[in-house]
Amino acid sequence: MAFFSKITRSQPLLLIGAGNMGGALLQGWLAAGLGEDAVIIIDPKGASAIQRNLRLKAAKVFEDLSQMGEIPAPSVVVFAVKPQFIADVFKQGDHIPLANSLLLSIAAGTRFDLFEKRFGEDKAIIRAMPNTPAAIGKGITALIGNAAAGEADLNLAEELMACVGKVLRVSSEDDLDTVTALSGSGPAYFFYMVEAMAAAGVDAGLAPKVAMTLARETLVGAAQLLETSDLEAAELRRRVTSPGGTTEAALKVLMSEDGLMTLMSQAILKAKTRGRELSS
Ligand SMILES: NC(=O)c1ccc[n+]([C@@H]2O[C@H](COP(=O)([O-])OP(=O)(O)OC[C@H]3O[C@@H](n4cnc5c(N)ncnc54)[C@H](OP(=O)(O)O)[C@@H]3O)[C@@H](O)[C@H]2O)c1
Repeated sequence: MAFFSKITRSQPLLLIGAGNMGGALLQGWLAAGLGEDAVIIIDPKGASAIQRNLRLKAAKVFEDLSQMGEIPAPSVVVFAVKPQFIADVFKQGDHIPLANSLLLSIAAGTRFDLFEKRFGEDKAIIRAMPNTPAAIGKGITALIGNAAAGEADLNLAEELMACVGKVLRVSSEDDLDTVTALSGSGPAYFFYMVEAMAAAGVDAGLAPKVAMTLARETLVGAAQLLETSDLEAAELRRRVTSPGGTTEAALKVLMSEDGLMTLMSQAILKAKTRGRELSS
């Protein structure tokens, strides 16, 4: 990995927030070979809890930025706290010795202008939106850089996010709001589909455990089939759907005017609107 030469003990990665997503990212970087001594972690849970949770041996952990003392200028500062705690981090921002540090934020809805007001418009900032399958290296991240971020910055951010899955670039912060609503929240829609299919199976007469096993394994298996197949989702769907058969009967309901397509569109628009409300 090319980024190992840029992130070292003397140019560390500063990870602010080592919860679900920050922790998943860190695990991905360490698994890819980044040395723990090249990482400094800030999280109010403190050293022993974070070291235990993330099975760390050598990474330095501090409860907040003011405890960090003097550190070399980080090559990357990763903001992985909940959006509502970004203001707390900004208050302590003077403790971060920024030189040519890349600022990489995964905080939903926290726009470039907030970072630029705090750290300066000349700072390269990348906003990235991963999702929870990152915890098993199967995430999908979309990212975008501000005006000061060059190709090298985008490449470095891409390499870091690629340690937990696939990465693509988007061209506007508005697109990133849509990404947040689609793939950021998307795993919850899939899990709800499992719940809905299992509940429908129970309504149709199956025992709850049997219905849940069938729903879960069907969606897990179908997801893996989609991943390993060269065919588009629509073609895979058509191949299960015989004319006049059972699947077609079900799809007539799901594909009706007020069916799943309409519901999903409404759901994603609601999520996008809510994301905007939270960020304003
Ligand atoms: N989870 C997702 O599906 C997902 C997907 C895409 C993007 N994101 C983004 O990722 C970010 C983190 O989400 P998450 O789900 O990982 O949340 P999380 O599990 O709550 O992790 C955030 C961590 O930051 C810590 N923290 C709070 N205030 C801090 C501070 N001032 N300085 C340093 N650390 C601080 C929290 O500690 P305490 O628990 O003690 O408060 C927690 O350990 C969010 O901005 C979210 O928008 C999440």
